[in-house]
Amino acid sequence: MNFEFTEEQLMIQQTAREFAESEIAPTSIERDKEAKFPAELVKKLGELGFMGMMVSSQYDGTGLDTISYVLAMIEISKVDASLGVIMSVNNSLVTYGLEKWGSDFIKEKYLKPLARGEKLGAFALSEPEAGSDATQQHTYAVKDGNYWVLNGMKNWITNGHSADYFLVMAQTDKEKAHHGITTFLVEKGTPGFGHGVKEDKLGIRSSDTCSLTFENCKVPEENIIWEVGKGFNFAMNTLNGGRIGIASQAVGIAEGALDAATKYAKTRKAFGTEISNHQAIQFKLADMSTKVEAAKLLTLQAAALKDAGKKYVKESAMAKLYSSKIAVECALEAIQIHGGYGYVREYLVERYLRDAKITEIYEGTSEIQRIVIARELLKD
Ligand code: CAA
Repeated sequence: MNFEFTEEQLMIQQTAREFAESEIAPTSIERDKEAKFPAELVKKLGELGFMGMMVSSQYDGTGLDTISYVLAMIEISKVDASLGVIMSVNNSLVTYGLEKWGSDFIKEKYLKPLARGEKLGAFALSEPEAGSDATQQHTYAVKDGNYWVLNGMKNWITNGHSADYFLVMAQTDKEKAHHGITTFLVEKGTPGFGHGVKEDKLGIRSSDTCSLTFENCKVPEENIIWEVGKGFNFAMNTLNGGRIGIASQAVGIAEGALDAATKYAKTRKAFGTEISNHQAIQFKLADMSTKVEAAKLLTLQAAALKDAGKKYVKESAMAKLYSSKIAVECALEAIQIHGGYGYVREYLVERYLRDAKITEIYEGTSEIQRIVIARELLKD
């Protein structure tokens, strides 16, 4: 087993760290307060090659491995988890799946600008009545000549307001249950395609989340991804990789909370000495640090398996399950170490807690991750 990163991986990590500290950090509190989408920063992430990290250079991507992606996601999310999820959706849920299952036409027309970061993608699986039970799609599409006509509604869609291209799962043959679901690429501005207001969220406030509506929305046949009836398999396979992205986001939040708590403990004094000299604080920092390392190793393990072309369904679910749990725990402990200062907005650590909570919910709740892990365990 090799625990050394390559020079290239370290360089990606360093680039992400410097960008996060110099360009993202200065405005992160303001963007969180105002729930303002970071359009300029997303554009810059694209210029740095961070929006199509795992896409090959043939399709204008950066051609990196999943380990590099994990390292970059951790650095960005440590400073701003909203940017982390915007980046994660474009990389793991949109561009990855398009390269793997998209036609040549799709790759030329849509994947290239997405991988260059000139266009932004969104992944539309969830519906008002199909969250964890994702097979229960009510959005449906009916064939009409060379088009498919979509009707229905999606909700909780990350990048919903700002994306240009949307991967929409819809029922195309109800008789066939989940084998009757198909993925369509829908362009923003297509007649009949609309979106709801931005959700006023607890955390990741500067990423935008909204519902989508389809009213007789005509999508060309050539915009089908993979093939008719493969939409659910597409969503499940894509989400396996997405869970590595969200695990990395959670590790970033946890590490950010640990760094903030360590820094504060070394300067804040109580009972005649810095609080870092008190064992009560030392034990908290030791536990936080152990959890962060364990979560990072689980996430890197899932990434390494994916890069090696091996199965990573169970490992990505484990990485997300554990990393999201410890992100919440570390954020809570960071607040505790900061005392009253941890409870006010000015000190950032309260945002870690608000941002951490969603990692236990989206891209499969912790309960769903346990189902995935248990099913994989019991298969053999
Ligand atoms: N990887 C690959 N294939 C999978 C899979 C996985 N992890 N899980 C299920 N499948 C496949 C099965 O092999 C099966 O395929 P075939 O029938 O072709 O053989 C098919 O999917 C159906 O599987 P199940 O019978 O196990 O289906 P189920 O209904 O019992 O359970 C589930 C499936 C695992 C619970 C699934 O519904 C699920 O993952 N739910 C959570 C959905 C989710 O993660 N939503 C996130 C929304 S996206 C989001 O949050 C994005 C964002 O904006 C940030």
